[in-house]
Amino acid sequence: MESTSTNSAPNFVHPSILKVVEQKKRIREKLSGIKHKVGVFSAKGGVGKTTTSVNIAFTLSSMGYKVGLLDADIDCPNVCMFLGINDVIDMEYPLVPIEKDGVKVLSTAMYVDDNKKPIIWRGPMIGKMVSEFLENSEWGELDYLIIDMPPNTSDAPLSIIQLLDLDGFILVTTPQHISAVNTIRSGMMARRLGVAVLGVIENMSGDKPVGGEEVSKSLGCELLGTIKTRTEIGEFSDRGVVPVLEDHSIRDNYANIVKRLF
Ligand SMILES: Nc1ncnc2c1ncn2[C@@H]1O[C@H](COP(=O)(O)OP(=O)(O)OP(=O)(O)O)[C@@H](O)[C@H]1O
Ligand SMILES: [Mg+2]
Repeated sequence: MESTSTNSAPNFVHPSILKVVEQKKRIREKLSGIKHKVGVFSAKGGVGKTTTSVNIAFTLSSMGYKVGLLDADIDCPNVCMFLGINDVIDMEYPLVPIEKDGVKVLSTAMYVDDNKKPIIWRGPMIGKMVSEFLENSEWGELDYLIIDMPPNTSDAPLSIIQLLDLDGFILVTTPQHISAVNTIRSGMMARRLGVAVLGVIENMSGDKPVGGEEVSKSLGCELLGTIKTRTEIGEFSDRGVVPVLEDHSIRDNYANIVKRLF
């Protein structure tokens, strides 16, 4: 094998791996003021990852914790719409999160002048953007950084898992078998890459858990709770209003889940 080293010792580490190691080191230093980094994940689209991330972040904040919310869905960012954040800011480093009701929020949507404009990037660009975002963001001291993950199990989630030392993932599924299967894939991906599965939430649930049970049994992880399909949750989110800040019963529902976790 060809050596890229200048000294006599053979170097079997590919330069791209060394680059990731260096990036990871810089990101670790940059985010050293954050006590816990928790991702909200499922490979399945539309199951409620953003809804869960937003409501868990604001529930933790209402409990007195210092919380940040990172929209890691780089090319299809939705967090700002869920929070009614319409600010458009120049992309200048350091990237300073916008504060919304005490929660620090960062999303690529803040740097795009029209929220319907598509961000069309190939995998390597997504990876580069994820690392730039993480290396240049100024979160300060936080108890929790909640990370709203993109769907699928390829470039974008892979970059985030590789670059961030996550405490673990909260998985989200809906009751349907197809959602459970894809969420199980996400959990298996996480573990394979050394990230813990903290538990699963069944969102848009009916009277009793189905998909959540399936994920919990298959991965041997805790079913943290269920969130029923409630039209108010969708309506609040569409209006850019945080459900747990508006409705006591929704807040209690998320608070019970959060208490099992943290
Ligand atoms: N429990 C619920 N009851 C009613 N509507 C819900 C509930 N959870 C989520 N929704 C609605 O379902 C839609 C999809 O939710 P959300 O955007 O959070 O999913 P997602 O997994 O983040 O999607 P994506 O994979 O595209 O990022 C949204 O319109 C949201 O308001
Ligand atoms: Mg989402």
